[in-house]
Amino acid sequence: MINHDPGSSPPLLSVNKLRVSFRVGSGINLPVIDTADFILEPQGSLGLVGESGSGKTMLCRTLIGTLARHGAVINGGNITFSGQPITNLGESEWRKLRGHQIGYIPQSSMAGLNPILTIKSQLSEVVKHSTGGSESEVRREVLGLLERVRIPRPTAVMRSRPHQLSGGMRQRVIIAAAIAQGPKLLIADEPTTALDVTVQSEILALINELREELGMALLLVSHDLAVIEEMCSLMAVMYAGATVEVGPTENLISSPNHPYTRALNTSRTDKARPGDLLESIPGDAVSVGHWPNGCRFWPRCPIADLDCQDGLQPDLLAIEQRASACIHSDRMEVTD
Ligand SMILES: Nc1ncnc2c1ncn2[C@@H]1O[C@H](COP(=O)(O)OP(=O)(O)OP(=O)(O)O)[C@@H](O)[C@H]1O
Ligand SMILES: [Mg+2]
Repeated sequence: MINHDPGSSPPLLSVNKLRVSFRVGSGINLPVIDTADFILEPQGSLGLVGESGSGKTMLCRTLIGTLARHGAVINGGNITFSGQPITNLGESEWRKLRGHQIGYIPQSSMAGLNPILTIKSQLSEVVKHSTGGSESEVRREVLGLLERVRIPRPTAVMRSRPHQLSGGMRQRVIIAAAIAQGPKLLIADEPTTALDVTVQSEILALINELREELGMALLLVSHDLAVIEEMCSLMAVMYAGATVEVGPTENLISSPNHPYTRALNTSRTDKARPGDLLESIPGDAVSVGHWPNGCRFWPRCPIADLDCQDGLQPDLLAIEQRASACIHSDRMEVTD
């Protein structure tokens, strides 16, 4: 198991050799995750990065037990949460975990708010299950939640409908729903992508404050390495459904051990100076159903040779605190 001291208590979340496939016909599966591997300690933080289509959202959906709604199943590996296996839970068991222990901010979540309902009625639905109480109790809970996510004038906001709020305020409402039951883990799938830069940093600061207050771990999906660097001590890099590198964020950024991680680093826009030529990753991301044999990155990799082109996607090889799936990681020069 990567990054975990076997002598210590169990990690909060452990994802081991996870495989997920879409069901596309009777008996036919189309792999979308193969394989994901990482662990997250209680109150820890892990950033999940990778190009569009690499399977990040499907991984989040796996971790909140909604794969079936998207026509997919787990068909390999295992997941544990607080030391308990959760790979094969049924829907009634997931209902006890989802929201209660694992909070979720879905990708494009702001679009998920119901446009015709007030914020109060949308959040009442979430708190009703935990309070089971009277109208006034539910109202008090909702008000408390809005205060907790630092929404100014919460009583007025309760009466508002989503279109009357700014993007940042709507995202605060979504976060309120995700943390309402005091989860141990918050999964946030690109929570700031649709927001402008100042609002982005306010929302990230709020997530950090809430983590501190509630003692939550964070699994954060982002395309933005600067965001991951600021928010997460660990980072897992996904390429074509596989975790290709995982380890401490600062190490993966200063000295990547997988050519894809290095390519992500060198294509960063936030570190560029005016006039710099940005090195974008050559070739196109490979889509589900079109993964090549061998290492899935080889057609785009500057150090690939014939050894990389056959067989299966290489397993992650752990060295101390980090692991890389590149068979030539010894050829990667340090690039800090
Ligand atoms: N129902 C489906 N059937 C087949 N393929 C699908 C289905 N839903 C999604 N996919 C494909 O699964 C792959 C993984 O999708 P996923 O949404 O997890 O990617 P992602 O890494 O979150 O991308 P993004 O960064 O754009 O959000 C994509 O190639 C997508 O096209
Ligand atoms: Mg996604």
